[in-house]
Amino acid sequence: MRKGKLSIRQKPNSSFSSATNSIQPPLYTVKTHNAASGAFNSVSQSINHKGERLTEDTLSANDEDSDNWSTATVGGPSTAFSSFTINDRTYNYAHHARSRNSYFFPTDNRGQDRLFLLHHISLLLHGDKLHLTPLENPSRVLDMGTGTCIWAIDSSHPDAAILGINISPIQSTWVPPNVRLEIDDVKLAWAIPPDSLDFVHIRDMDSAIQNWTNLMREAYRTLKPGGWIEIKDIIWSYTSDDGTVTPEYTPMRIIETVHEALKALNVEFHSSGEHHERLTNVGFMDISQQTQKVPIGLWPADPKLKEVGNITLTAAYLGVEDVILYPLRVGLSWDREKIQALASGVRRDLKKGSIHASVWSYAFWARKPTE
Ligand SMILES: C[S@@+](CC[C@H](N)C(=O)[O-])C[C@H]1O[C@@H](n2cnc3c(N)ncnc32)[C@H](O)[C@@H]1O
Repeated sequence: MRKGKLSIRQKPNSSFSSATNSIQPPLYTVKTHNAASGAFNSVSQSINHKGERLTEDTLSANDEDSDNWSTATVGGPSTAFSSFTINDRTYNYAHHARSRNSYFFPTDNRGQDRLFLLHHISLLLHGDKLHLTPLENPSRVLDMGTGTCIWAIDSSHPDAAILGINISPIQSTWVPPNVRLEIDDVKLAWAIPPDSLDFVHIRDMDSAIQNWTNLMREAYRTLKPGGWIEIKDIIWSYTSDDGTVTPEYTPMRIIETVHEALKALNVEFHSSGEHHERLTNVGFMDISQQTQKVPIGLWPADPKLKEVGNITLTAAYLGVEDVILYPLRVGLSWDREKIQALASGVRRDLKKGSIHASVWSYAFWARKPTE
């Protein structure tokens, strides 16, 4: 696919644009909140993956995040994209008047590569299916926390209008004509009409959401009667059938430390265990759950599991820094050397062929009652 320069485009009237026959550059719509009137305004603008508006050079220094991070804010007073670096990794997100983001994964190219690997793992785990929900010709689909937008781009429903919402402008430069993107914070009330969606898809958002019940309530409110929600996550809680994962296994110890750090940052972690109960309490019905072990490494004999293990090991190995950097630096005030020492210990243990570790994959799908 050819990449081109983005330009400002006319925002469609509704949240979902109708499909056309051409591949389009993404149009980002940024929701802004007017504190005085309480109204939400939408501003359409073209921005690059660093959050820079492509039509204005309004980069200005802003050191509100920390005195030793480099921070830049782009945009007008109501819509701004913050970018800061820790140990040469870039974090970028919208922080307009609606919210202040607390998501902690780097959004740079390395961070995005990790998301592509996770997408591949998800397909391998779910029989090459993009969703487990039994959908019939959905017309309006919402991909919450769309990330690079790869799920929406790969979507098996080219006739559906797909809206991808994300806090960071990291989506692909070109998206299919049925996909639209919005920059917004999914933890706040969704600016989407009630009873309007056929399907809400949420993948790999563990640790992005502080209050899952609120999120599920928003999905319930905006789904049509009979509409579906699907939530999938890999939970990095290590286990082994043969006892080779011990309390000394560094990847496991690091997750405990990250957990502690995230508590200090008020982030909920490993939340899938309660999703069934949450979905029930919110009012969803026909709830299905699929839980499976995800091997890490080349140890499985089964060729398919070996492939899963290979990619999961790659994602874990390359992603060590992504997972620990922000929580340990910001949550626990660790210095760079201490973080790097821990990261190399994790990488060393991940590579040990004698350890037969797995983590967990959770998937839930459920329906809003028809009446
Ligand atoms: C691990 S990625 C998963 C991306 C995508 N769902 C996928 O499966 O490929 C999580 C994404 O959620 C986004 N995110 C985190 N907190 C968010 C929030 N409060 N509102 C919207 N997006 C958010 C992050 O920017 C990141 O791109």
